[in-house]
Amino acid sequence: MCGIVACIIKDKAAPVLLDCVQRLEYRGYDSVGIATLSGDIYIKKNEGKIDDVQKKLDLTDIPGNMGIAHVRWATHGLPTGKNAHPHTDCKKRIAVVHNGIIENYNELKTILQNEGHIFTSDTDTEVIPHLIEKYMEMGNGLEVASRLATKDIQGSYAIAAISADEPNKIIGIRKESPLIVGIGENEFFLASDVPAILEHTKNVIYLDDNEMAVLDLDGVVIKDIDGNVLDKEINIIEWTADMAEKGGYNHFMLKEIHEQPEVIRNTLMEYPEIENVVSTFPEFNRICFVACGTSYHASLVGKYLFETMLGIPTDVVLASEFIFSEGALNAKTLVILISQSGETADTLRALKIANTKSETLAIVNVLGSTATREADHVIYTRAGPEIGVAATKTYVSQLTCIYMLAIAMDGNNNLLEKLQKVPGFMKNALAREDHIIQIAKKYKNSTDFFFFGRGFSYPTALEGALKLKEITYIHAEGYAAGELKHGPLALIDDDVPVLAVVPPGDRHDKTLSNVEEVKARGASIIGVGSSEDAALRLESDDIIGMDNDISEILSPIPYVVPLQLLSYYISIERGIDPDKPKNLAKCVTVE
Ligand code: F6R
Repeated sequence: MCGIVACIIKDKAAPVLLDCVQRLEYRGYDSVGIATLSGDIYIKKNEGKIDDVQKKLDLTDIPGNMGIAHVRWATHGLPTGKNAHPHTDCKKRIAVVHNGIIENYNELKTILQNEGHIFTSDTDTEVIPHLIEKYMEMGNGLEVASRLATKDIQGSYAIAAISADEPNKIIGIRKESPLIVGIGENEFFLASDVPAILEHTKNVIYLDDNEMAVLDLDGVVIKDIDGNVLDKEINIIEWTADMAEKGGYNHFMLKEIHEQPEVIRNTLMEYPEIENVVSTFPEFNRICFVACGTSYHASLVGKYLFETMLGIPTDVVLASEFIFSEGALNAKTLVILISQSGETADTLRALKIANTKSETLAIVNVLGSTATREADHVIYTRAGPEIGVAATKTYVSQLTCIYMLAIAMDGNNNLLEKLQKVPGFMKNALAREDHIIQIAKKYKNSTDFFFFGRGFSYPTALEGALKLKEITYIHAEGYAAGELKHGPLALIDDDVPVLAVVPPGDRHDKTLSNVEEVKARGASIIGVGSSEDAALRLESDDIIGMDNDISEILSPIPYVVPLQLLSYYISIERGIDPDKPKNLAKCVTVE
């Protein structure tokens, strides 16, 4: 949801800024821009994806050893060239990039316009350089002027600002939008996320809300919003730059799907840490999962698991709706927030509410992200950086953490042993890739798709439908199989493919009856079940066979793999870039 970068280095800044911002393209790709400082401010920016803008404009062709850059996911103002960041003040002496939303920008814009400031874009961001200009004209330096500007602003922001009147200085400020400081050898960075700067440094400071970083060639000083110097910890990032590369795959998404067996192995190594976390828990009589999107689907598996294994009443609430659950929270509730990024605005808002009444646990992929700093307890999913916009490997690592949490709370080591076999099951599922490509070719022109499953397969159906919607733009619905006859069956006819998730187990026969119901209405069936399931094979037009010994309880992890691959290949067949689906961004930092 917009990515920002800034650097002050020994050499030319623009090529480094371009490289860093390309690594943030998963956050937004409506437009891109770079501003550098070399006496004056030089800006190149335009609408479109980075590669296209680079071909047209050569964004690296501007001088100076310091600058700021931005990829945009539009909130206020169309994704046009004039709305692309960086934005400047009236005299083009100040340039700013911003991730977040300025809620009172209309009011501020009117005040500034009445004071004579000329605006050139429709963005909320443009009020920031004009506010800084106003405060610099009152005799303040860039640092104080930036601080004063943020005091006028309501909303969320990660900002990087430079001024031609104060060369060799970059200001970064954050409130409710992520911003990290990278510390290299005589070179310093700001970025929305770690992968942007991994090539240059692994030493990172995480800014908290209302903190600012002042960068120059001698170093970085972190201050609070009143200018008091803070002593912040430098974290060493374990991720490598290679982890954020495509590594020979055509897309990040395909690479990330293929990484999943290894991701599960890495995540399983967290078990002792999870046991430690569990040992500090007080007694709970209720669990409440809170998450959005794919992380919400992982939470649904958590509900089935916690209720069947532990018998603890468990709810799953969409983070954006969590405010309505506040009244039911108390000290005996464990609130578990699931988030890949740890920066999703809805989830962070829910965490703030939950922290006032209950014990909170965040299951997060991104080290040092806001959720990890604000929750009472943290469990990391060891998935490595996920660049593809559609979540894949982080979903299965979230699931693995949820299983391990339930096992640690229940002491069921038998299930832990079974979990060790899951990477092998996933490898076998990945081996069905060629067959799935053929199925993708067959169904690529469908306009509607249904996914269904019962029990542990219901979240898998929801996740399969979400993946298809996101990266193929085909309308898809995920349903609990038993619900179909309560309405959606009316939509089933010859044109609608139905993907049925039918692992062996207690729910198998009932789900198979649902398959028969839709088949009787003319649907084409894609069955995903045991390769030894003769009954499912008989009912299915196409079958994706999984290992027979995958138990129903663990099926959500391996069974999602063919659904991810099917969406990926349908996306390719339809000529869509699955890493950059339209209108979507990797990290949703606005409510
Ligand atoms: C779907 C997807 C989104 C995210 C959702 C929550 O593929 O990626 O639905 O799952 O935006 O994001 P996190 O997990 O970062 O809180």
